[in-house]
Amino acid sequence: MRVSFELNGEPSTLDVDPFERLSEVLRIDLGMTGTKVGCDAGDCGACTVMLDGLQVCACMVSAAQADGAEVETVEGRADDELLAELRLAFLEHGAAQCGICTPGMLMAARDILLRKPNPSRAEIEDALGGVLCRCTGYLKIVEAVESVGAQQTPQTAPTPAGCAVGARLVRIDGAPKVDGSDQFGADAAPANALWLRTIRSPHARARFELGNFDALYQRHPDLVKVLIAADIPGENSFGVYPDLKDQPVLADGEVRYRGEAILALIGPRAAIAAITAEELPIIWSLETPTVGIAAATASSVAPVHATRPDNILVHGNVECGDVDAAFDAAAAVAEGEIQTAFVEHAYIEPEAGYAMPLADGRIEIVASTQTPYMDRDEAARVAGIDPAQVRIIPTACGGGFGGKLDVALQPTLAAAARVVGRPVRSIYSRIESMASTTKRHPAYIQGRIGVDGDGRITAYESSADFNTGAYASWGPTVANRVPVHAAGPYRVSNVHNRSRAIYTNETPAGAFRGFGVPQSAILNERLLDDAAERIAMDRWDIRYLNALRPGDATVTGQVLKASCGLAACLDALREDWRAMLTRASEHNARDGVLRRGVGI
Ligand code: FES
Repeated sequence: MRVSFELNGEPSTLDVDPFERLSEVLRIDLGMTGTKVGCDAGDCGACTVMLDGLQVCACMVSAAQADGAEVETVEGRADDELLAELRLAFLEHGAAQCGICTPGMLMAARDILLRKPNPSRAEIEDALGGVLCRCTGYLKIVEAVESVGAQQTPQTAPTPAGCAVGARLVRIDGAPKVDGSDQFGADAAPANALWLRTIRSPHARARFELGNFDALYQRHPDLVKVLIAADIPGENSFGVYPDLKDQPVLADGEVRYRGEAILALIGPRAAIAAITAEELPIIWSLETPTVGIAAATASSVAPVHATRPDNILVHGNVECGDVDAAFDAAAAVAEGEIQTAFVEHAYIEPEAGYAMPLADGRIEIVASTQTPYMDRDEAARVAGIDPAQVRIIPTACGGGFGGKLDVALQPTLAAAARVVGRPVRSIYSRIESMASTTKRHPAYIQGRIGVDGDGRITAYESSADFNTGAYASWGPTVANRVPVHAAGPYRVSNVHNRSRAIYTNETPAGAFRGFGVPQSAILNERLLDDAAERIAMDRWDIRYLNALRPGDATVTGQVLKASCGLAACLDALREDWRAMLTRASEHNARDGVLRRGVGI
């Protein structure tokens, strides 16, 4: 279908599939990559553009619907003063952090300011409500829009030398994030790049055999290569630790979680997209998956990995002082347990990038990543070449939060480019990203805390199990770090903290802000509340009394010289806490309700 529309004031005509998404028409057919794609489902709003003056998600608009319309994107018209003001305001307020949501935010902000030049905060929040941001917490974005609505002139002058500490600085890489020119993983690839589509297991635990692919090649003559485990030029395994490469790039006859990669289709985008699951000659033999920590540690369960008969990947342990004696002598003891679930990082940018073989045998990989050197080593291992032969060029990273500390598509792309001898690119779908990449470790933690009559913590004990899923990823770091931190940022002399990372047939769990410490902090802080209640002590007071300060030793004997600011944080909260207690007390007196733990 031939469609014509006005794009940022300029006429545009092209031949497209009428059902192609407008986001793809803009990004792929027209090369206008300022409009980002986060979910392809109308949920994240990263692809927000204006269609005939209305905000729309470009991923939910067909090319045919754009015919005859006026389309406005973040690239904007050169004379769009409002958009220019918003860009400056976003920079000044630090409203563009990773920047992947910024184009959508800018379009939504421009929309409300066109309709209502001086909107209220509620109206701004409503107008931006269709665009998700994982980085900023929204406040800086709303303030930036408010400042333009209030016609405050953005301060673009550089901060004078010597005044940088405490000042709000305009980030040096900010300008491309607000004008749509920043390049993320999905934004560029060589024109002759083939596409790679990963086929994933629909089963959590199974063995499989691959049949003959001749018929598939005949039916899809443009299909260049079906990449399977046997095609991997180097080692078919990767992992975070030098001595623990337990995850295959492509499963070899056995899958351990739903979403695991089993093969990759390489060819022109349309050709590999046309291949259906029914066409793939895969014979499955299903097995019972091990789900959850309790099942994985039961005595009769079949191990996820033959090398770990008890499913225990690693143990962690920290002991100091005499815990039993300290609990015996404690004035009060509180104990409890908590259980947490998998948590998805939900960065707005799904994994994306390309690998390009160079004439001298080297490979360049351009991808969104938090760990270029790890990518280099793992890609080299899988491609069967020296790490010095691999160059990683990180793109802008549209959010990671630890999730892009794990390699995802980089080793597969390296192997594919080496096998087919051409550039190969891949962009994970949102579903694929969520189904196959690492999560925060689910945890089951038990513990107890002992305090003396003055509220000093005298003993702490905990036992934490972390579900590391089918492969190790950062499980050893989690299991070894948590016992060090499980007693919290508090002074305790008698401690015994244990932990285990446990294999299951679930999505691998990996790095996610804090490496297991947030899970252990849930129990630690709750136990502290309970202990305070038992000795009729205020929750703020018990924390202030026990907070680690410079000169204190941690449970591992490390003497802290600095960087222990809990007491200062509590000082900053003191007045608000007291005011909250007063309000709670008044409320309780009025309603005759004593709410647990508040006002004691
Ligand atoms: Fe909004 Fe990163 S700045 S998602």
